[in-house]
Amino acid sequence: MSEPNKYIEDLLSQMTLEEKIDMIHGSAFFHTKGVERLGIPPLMTSDGPMGVRADFEDDRWVNIGTSDDYVTYMPCNSAVASTWNTELAYAFGDVLGEETRGRGKDMILAPGINIKRSPLCGRNFEYMSEDPYLIAEMAAPLIRGIQKHDVSACVKHFACNAQETERLWVDTEVDERTLQEIYYPGFKAALDKGNSYAIMGAYNLLNGEHCCTSKKLMNQVVRGEWNYDGAIVSDWGGVHDTVLAAESEMDLEMDVRPDFEEYFMASPLLEKVKNGELSEELIDKKVRNLLRLMLRIKMIGEEKESRKAGSYNTWAHQKTTLDVAREGLVLLKNEDNVLPLKKNVKKVAVIGYNATNIHSNGGGSSEIKALYEISPLMGIKKLLGGNVKVSYAPGYVVSEKEEAREVNWQSDSTQYFNSKSEETKKQETLEEKKERFWKEAKAIAQDADEVIFVGGLSHDFDTEGADRAGMELPYGQDEIIEKLCDVNPNTVVVMFAGSPVKMPWKERVKAILWSYYSGMEGGTAIAEVLYGDVNPSGKLAETMPKSLEQCSAHSIGTFGNKDVVKFSEGVMVGYRHYDTVGAEVHFPFGHGLSYTTYSYSGLEIKKNTQNDVIVSFSVKNEGQLAGKEIVQLYVAPKAPSVERPIHELKVFTKVALEPQESKEISLILSGEAFSYYNVEQKAFVVDSGIYELQVGASSRDIRLRMEVEVNA
Ligand code: GLC
Repeated sequence: MSEPNKYIEDLLSQMTLEEKIDMIHGSAFFHTKGVERLGIPPLMTSDGPMGVRADFEDDRWVNIGTSDDYVTYMPCNSAVASTWNTELAYAFGDVLGEETRGRGKDMILAPGINIKRSPLCGRNFEYMSEDPYLIAEMAAPLIRGIQKHDVSACVKHFACNAQETERLWVDTEVDERTLQEIYYPGFKAALDKGNSYAIMGAYNLLNGEHCCTSKKLMNQVVRGEWNYDGAIVSDWGGVHDTVLAAESEMDLEMDVRPDFEEYFMASPLLEKVKNGELSEELIDKKVRNLLRLMLRIKMIGEEKESRKAGSYNTWAHQKTTLDVAREGLVLLKNEDNVLPLKKNVKKVAVIGYNATNIHSNGGGSSEIKALYEISPLMGIKKLLGGNVKVSYAPGYVVSEKEEAREVNWQSDSTQYFNSKSEETKKQETLEEKKERFWKEAKAIAQDADEVIFVGGLSHDFDTEGADRAGMELPYGQDEIIEKLCDVNPNTVVVMFAGSPVKMPWKERVKAILWSYYSGMEGGTAIAEVLYGDVNPSGKLAETMPKSLEQCSAHSIGTFGNKDVVKFSEGVMVGYRHYDTVGAEVHFPFGHGLSYTTYSYSGLEIKKNTQNDVIVSFSVKNEGQLAGKEIVQLYVAPKAPSVERPIHELKVFTKVALEPQESKEISLILSGEAFSYYNVEQKAFVVDSGIYELQVGASSRDIRLRMEVEVNA
């Protein structure tokens, strides 16, 4: 587009005040009105991070119910982060963006990148990690992939939206250094390196201001310090005051209410501009940002005829979804090499409701009307085929009501079995049902060569709008797992969840495979890893603590309060806390096993002319299986001038290695990798001194280390 600013000014100069106001608030739940007279279409938005959400009626929270809005149901952002594969993140975004365009949308309300501060946050599954650097490295390519398709990402929720409890009104208190080191970097990278055309404000208050209309966040930081010229969108219902909204840098007010003309930036704002209380220039600024976004995605302007068409539900999209699911699975434990399982067995018992449960249709705004969803049970059956008897039992009781399965139209219609004459089944008690479920599970487990338990959580617990009450697994799963180990000590446990759970059986169980919500091909990927068709390569993007007491958000800060939540733990979030205090966690940040092993050797450090530190070493695949290893580089200040985490992740890479293959890895640490935020100087600064560079397979599995002197 030649002279975009001139184009924007020309358009703006033709707009009436009413038309400008129409541009800056929703006129339906998921789109604006546009200005037909001037060829400005409505801006069509849609959730979410796991695919393009089904269509709603414009003014009723009712799906339109047609059959054209089934889509590719993709892995959640936690699964994407667990791949640590930046190329795959781009591929993920490529699919999400093409589906967005293919569904006729202009903006996808994704990715969600809030810091996973506590295991209890209901939306953790929609977020990536506890580490801002990993978030930045994964979100930026994902956004670029989305926007390749002439649609806008909308990275969310800025900022500190770290709990669901009282999410619209809770005031989050966070100090400046913590904001700069932990809660801003992912978003800054999303805008700078990801070039996100839009960003969404969070519901909560931050230090007394509602984020969406915060002068600090939106005016001073995003527009001022970050010099951002994209669009700032409110969360749906995140605006509470017309003057604040008008004077903030937020451009577009969306809400869940159907009285669109009564939105704070609708007729109330129109009135205040007309009576001179507020300047029309405040509206013009917002309209310019929205027109600029529309230009960027070729909704308007000379390039609109060449706008990409997109597509959805393609095989290529499903293949990418499978690839992300495969690499997002994390093998947490594999004692005695219980995994991979053998295919040439006669009987397999699959126990646990999550083996057959469908997750796509839950979780809140990230819900997806999936074209299909392969459950773990289906994945296992279709991998093993018909010669292996795969039996299923739910194992634990999820719902007290029994689905009416006895009456069948076929038997009924043939009149052979007059099902109505059957005496109604005696209502069994919950305890009786649990006992019956255990008996069924025990029976198939005793009779099987292999036992696979598939449990964990579901979107009954991992969901927008509510936080979990605790880390415990629901439905008495712990007991079932223990009892299954009595029956077969090689019972394999597959966990579905968006956050860490308590694992009292962790020492007892020999193999644990962790799956976030892995999308429509999740069951396929789980089966492929269980049976060795895929060598697992995922690693945890969050620490798995044993208890909440270990978590700094609960032991130092507060979580889940309805009025004020204090991030008193400061920068000590996640492994920055656990590793600094040496907490004995279930599994550390960056942990993940493979069916092969990798050795690290030959660490060398040198500096380049820019005073960057070049870290070189070799990684070798010592096994007989090809695999991918995620190597991590942590920086550990030896004598910091201020309190700092014992170490912080500053570079990583994922390297594919054939059996016995060795590769030379070179990682570059720039000055900022040694820095911390100095509040007095209002800048990131580097202390001169000694730093230990740690090359690790996880934050607790450091394979190579060497000290380097930094002269700032
Ligand atoms: C929701 C969520 C946000 C979503 C929006 C539209 O309340 O907070 O993530 O994109 O509203 O559904």
